[in-house]
Amino acid sequence: MSTVNYGPLAELIGTWKGNKGTDIAPEVSGEKNSPYFETITFEAIGTVKNANIQTLAALHYQQIVQHRESGDVFHHQCGYWSWDSKTGVVTHSFNIPRGVAVLACGKVLDDDDLPDVTVIQVSAEDTGFDGGIAQTSFMQKNAHTTAFSQTMTIEGDSLTYQQTMMLDIYSKTFEHVDSSILVRQ
Ligand code: HEM
Repeated sequence: MSTVNYGPLAELIGTWKGNKGTDIAPEVSGEKNSPYFETITFEAIGTVKNANIQTLAALHYQQIVQHRESGDVFHHQCGYWSWDSKTGVVTHSFNIPRGVAVLACGKVLDDDDLPDVTVIQVSAEDTGFDGGIAQTSFMQKNAHTTAFSQTMTIEGDSLTYQQTMMLDIYSKTFEHVDSSILVRQ
């Protein structure tokens, strides 16, 4: 059995927990700010080969987000991260049960001054050629996600992320934003 090189994604493998998440989400009359705790589990699943040319190393993950006060699950997400060792391209593809699926592409940002820190940036637009956003006709009409961008920063057993979803909802453009800090268990 050959060993898979997960490149920068190797930094993510494991179970992470955090209780410092903040979510800013749209409301009819403005916005709602929800503190949350969450668990994200990244599992190495090996390689996939495309068109006999491209080999991607992949992780599968699940993210469960709960209201800090009530413990109610209010966001559930699952998907894949992949890395192409030839091009350095990273993809993040995921589904949420609202009827939205995202394929975001990006890369690792190199910073020679911070060799122990891995920063991965990915993004997608609903009109994208490289990646994109698929959503139901209901969501296109009523709560349209037009763009997604995300930065993941990993330093040892600490993971920080920021993500922005641009939404057209309630007759306005809204920046739906999440940020969180997690620790590997
Ligand atoms: C930590 C991650 C996330 C949390 C905690 C979260 C939370 C929320 C909350 C509380 C709402 C308002 C729901 C309501 O008013 O009933 C919302 C709306 C929405 N979210 Fe998220 N969200 C997250 C990530 C995402 C992602 C990654 C996407 C898509 C790429 C997304 C797309 C949407 C859309 C389209 C809406 C509008 C639906 C509506 O309010 O009727 N969210 N989210």
